[in-house]
Amino acid sequence: MKRTSSTSAGASKIVILDFGSQYTQVIARRVRECHVYSEILPHTTSASELKHSGARGIILSGGPASVYAKGAPRVDRGIYRLGLPILGICYGMQLLARDLDGAVQPSEEREFGSGRFTITRTSPLFAGLPKTLDVWNSHGDKVTRLPAGFVAVGATENSKSAAIADTRRKFYGLQFHPEVSHTPRGSEVIENFVMGICGCRADWTPGSFIERTCAEIREQVGEDRVVLGLSGGVDSSVAAALLHRAIGSQLTCIFVDNGLLRAGERVWVREIFGKHFHLDLRVVDASASFLGKLRGVTDPERKRKIIGREFIRVFEKAAKSFATRRRGRPFRFLAQGTLYPDVIESVPIGGNPAAMIKSHHNVGGLPKRMKFQLVEPLQQLFKDEVREVGLQLGLPREIVHRQPFPGPGLAVRILGEVTRSRVRVLQAADEIVQAEMVTSGWYDRVWQSFAVLLPVRSVGVMGDERTFENTVALRVVESRDGMTADWVRLPYELLGRISTRIINEVKGVNRVCYDISSKPPATIEWE
Ligand code: XMP
Repeated sequence: MKRTSSTSAGASKIVILDFGSQYTQVIARRVRECHVYSEILPHTTSASELKHSGARGIILSGGPASVYAKGAPRVDRGIYRLGLPILGICYGMQLLARDLDGAVQPSEEREFGSGRFTITRTSPLFAGLPKTLDVWNSHGDKVTRLPAGFVAVGATENSKSAAIADTRRKFYGLQFHPEVSHTPRGSEVIENFVMGICGCRADWTPGSFIERTCAEIREQVGEDRVVLGLSGGVDSSVAAALLHRAIGSQLTCIFVDNGLLRAGERVWVREIFGKHFHLDLRVVDASASFLGKLRGVTDPERKRKIIGREFIRVFEKAAKSFATRRRGRPFRFLAQGTLYPDVIESVPIGGNPAAMIKSHHNVGGLPKRMKFQLVEPLQQLFKDEVREVGLQLGLPREIVHRQPFPGPGLAVRILGEVTRSRVRVLQAADEIVQAEMVTSGWYDRVWQSFAVLLPVRSVGVMGDERTFENTVALRVVESRDGMTADWVRLPYELLGRISTRIINEVKGVNRVCYDISSKPPATIEWE
């Protein structure tokens, strides 16, 4: 499959060269909050590439290395002759100072954590800010001799040159991290650089994105047909709405009902995309084949593999059949809701950049033999931007602000064998969890909230009868990105209500437990 990268011709743009800081993506976000497009590129990007990139300014990110260390990441020094404004942050500042013949030394006192920063000289970088700022530091080295043309414009207790500037060339360096939330007024520093110093226009808005991207999609696709696997999740839904806006009936969406979906999901998706958006939506009921293949399987990894393989088989068959049935034209393009964090190239410090281009998901790993070209209209966006675009396209809030749902569906939330009757029990319990989370206002405040059906039966008493029924575990977590998570301290009343409703309303369940494990060491899903 071929990835075609889209551009954002004509729009203001800032390039961030990445030196491996854990905050590089946060810098990109902060720039975009100024409604300016930002792109993260490897620090190995050449000056001539940058020259032709259309960037109006460059930010050099922080990074874990020391500028004098062996193998420390460098930049093509030609970037200093492009006439573009440059802002170096932490490692980026030290590199800037060293490359322009200043001096950097390990500091005796490592600065880490919160600190006070004082502006010592007027600079456009600090326009509109008070004289002292709370800032976040995380560095060992400091600039001890300024390069020619630079002056110190700010200091901390440990460093007289915590911020440096060469106003003529528009080169700036900051020892602290303006991008993190622990530097409360840092966004204004970034805005001063992006808007004031680089002169960018605030032209990165959902509306302008939609207009530009639709034109790009039309140009890429021409008269050809596009197929998209619609799951009902945020990314594929927004991708579908965007493509539909761009190419209308040239888009066909395939929704595979694998029998492992939440209650009412299929009807809901058909309602919204088929009836409301008038999309060419093909619903394939493959529940019998999925559940058939899962019969007797209890191993979590085997479940995932079976579901992944079956998805490919069903999708491929459906795509072929819908292609031949309608005008006989095959699908040349496959659209996916790939997001920006999935396509950023990460370069290991001292490693081989080419080898490290991050591998990323695609729709269940669709087979190469299908020879699709990819259309990935969301590949420039972060998740919150995808949501804004979705709302602007008229998607309902319930879709745009949905919690993540795993590809293998309820199968990884039914421990032990997956059967139709166990799916029904979990769907009923899950429906209650979702409804109670929404009405209590907690749904939007957590990362995920769901029920898990355990392969454990326990004794209970209902009325005068002894019962011996299933146990449901309730999992509610908060998380920033799903990589780490903590269980949510839900109010007891809410926990109580969910438990009572599940036990009273879901036949076959007589006990509910609350999962109070964090990730790590537990994972969010149980399988
Ligand atoms: P874990 O369980 O690994 O989950 O802590 C982290 C996040 O990823 C989601 N998840 C999946 N999403 N296909 C997906 O599309 C999968 O196979 C899958 N497994 C886990 C999970 O819901 C959580 O948000």
